[in-house]
Parts: sequence; structure tokens; C-alpha cells
Amino acid sequence: MKILVINGPNINMLGTREPNVYGKQNYDALVKYIYDVGQELKITADCFQSNHEGEIVDAIQDALGKYQGIVINPAAYTHTSIAILDALKAVDLPAVEVHLSDVSRREPFRQISYAGMACIKTYMGLGFEGYRQAICFLASHINEKANPVKDS
Ligand code: DQA
Repeated sequence: MKILVINGPNINMLGTREPNVYGKQNYDALVKYIYDVGQELKITADCFQSNHEGEIVDAIQDALGKYQGIVINPAAYTHTSIAILDALKAVDLPAVEVHLSDVSRREPFRQISYAGMACIKTYMGLGFEGYRQAICFLASHINEKANPVKDS
């Protein structure tokens, strides 16, 4: 199984950026963490990060036929990007939304998530652990779709 983990703008600044909100570990540590989760689950979890909305749209489109699902932290584009929402709907791959911080307890402008409207589940406020839970949930969901439990 192959899944793509997409991170949006300023996630490359982890560790430096508002460490009280996003933690002290840097983006390389997040990539290693995600890789290790993939190893544990015996799946491939590739990472992609961009500060550019169009590149994120391209990455979602390119995932079709290569990946069975997407974990996405669209970062600030969460709250603005209909293009990312439309791309997720266009490829129709199962997608799970992640936020390092608990956006539900932050500013009013963070209360809308466009991308989340195309996601089957959202994890927030758990730091790196949210990515682990999102990948586990997505992998189980993909397995369940491939091998549905039959009613007896
Ligand atoms: C974020 C939350 C967003 O509101 C913010 O713009 C980010 C990161 C998070 O992971 O907590 O850049 O998605």
C-alpha cells in the first residue's frame, strides 16, 4: 500500500516557527517520523511539502493511480483553498486531514476547513502523533475497502 502525506505552507519551518504552537521538532524530524510509521505498518508513506497552492493541487492530481490514499495538512490553505478541496474531490482518493495544533480552539478564521469537506476524518491538536493516527486510520480504511468484512 502506498499513501501520500502532503504538508502545506510553512510546515517546512517547523521547529523555528511558533514552537509553543507547533512544537520544537523540525520538518526533517516529521518526515522521519512518518517514514517510521510507514515501516511499522509495512506500507509506503511518501511525503510532499509545498508553500504553493498550485503545487499542492498538482501533487493531489498526480497521486491518482500512484497512491491509494492521502493524508493532508493543508496548513493555512485549509481555511482558504477551494482549489485543494476540488482537487481532493476530483481524484476521489480517501483522504484524512491533520493539524498539529487544535484549530478548533484558535482564531475564528481557522474554524472553516475547505479541505476537510473532502476528508473522511480529521485529527487535530496531537502534534506528530496526529499523523500517526491519520496514517493508521487511512491504512485500515483502505484495507477494509479492499477486503470488506462480510455480514454473517
Ligand atoms: C495548521 C493550522 C493552520 O491554521 C495553520 O495555518 C498552519 C498549521 C496546523 O497544523 O496546526 O499553518 O494546519
